Amino acid sequence: MEKGVLLYEGKAKQIYQTAIENELWVAYKDDATAFNGEKKETLTGKARLNNEITSLIFSYLQENGVDSHFIKRLSETEQLVKKVEIIPLEVVVRNVVAGSMAKRLGIEEGTPLEQPIVEFYYKDDALGDPLVTEDHIAILKAASSNDLIVLRENALEVNKHLIKLFENMNVRLIDFKLEFGRTSNGEILLADEISPDTCRLWDKETNQRFDKDLFRRNLGSLQEGYQEILSRLGGASCTK
Ligand code: C5P
Repeated sequence: MEKGVLLYEGKAKQIYQTAIENELWVAYKDDATAFNGEKKETLTGKARLNNEITSLIFSYLQENGVDSHFIKRLSETEQLVKKVEIIPLEVVVRNVVAGSMAKRLGIEEGTPLEQPIVEFYYKDDALGDPLVTEDHIAILKAASSNDLIVLRENALEVNKHLIKLFENMNVRLIDFKLEFGRTSNGEILLADEISPDTCRLWDKETNQRFDKDLFRRNLGSLQEGYQEILSRLGGASCTK
């Protein structure tokens, strides 16, 4: 199989056409960005780490009955996915207060939540991806209220499986962001990536960060943190 024309280039990935109409070729990039592109660096090896980690996680979810756009890993930095139209919402699940929630509500980072919470952010770079309510989403026509029920249920289901996966690796899943898309027959499918770029992952014993906060907050080597996650994923059973 060969890569076709470049259809889209985002901050962290390029999307290419393939010879098959409903399949796309994703190439991960070594670029790291934060604060809506204000902080930017090229970090050699990041593409490989995120591609490998996302491939392992989507395969694990598949084995546990959670479908996604992921078809297969093509190379160290590339994967084949089903074509979907991305729903313009970032679906964030939180198990522990951190990041923007800590800041917005004045709750100390690291405070556990009694039950996971789901938030929706409107995907719009110019607006800085604002937090939106169900009513905002209706006005923006970003998704229907039925879609929101499906997104919420799927996000919480993914959370359940990911908590278990990371627990086996001695890692706490603090929070993460998902994106969903619609296939040509209207089915809502988990899409994008699940990697330390999109999750907060803390060591269970030491609270050491293994995620993009390493880069955002200058806490240490991003590649070393992501490599630790990849190594632990390789060591942990992905079918439990
Ligand atoms: O910044 P905030 O605390 O809202 O992020 C919550 C979670 O969503 C974090 O795991 C973060 O890495 C992820 N996220 C993301 N892409 C964004 C915003 C947040 O992956 N554009």
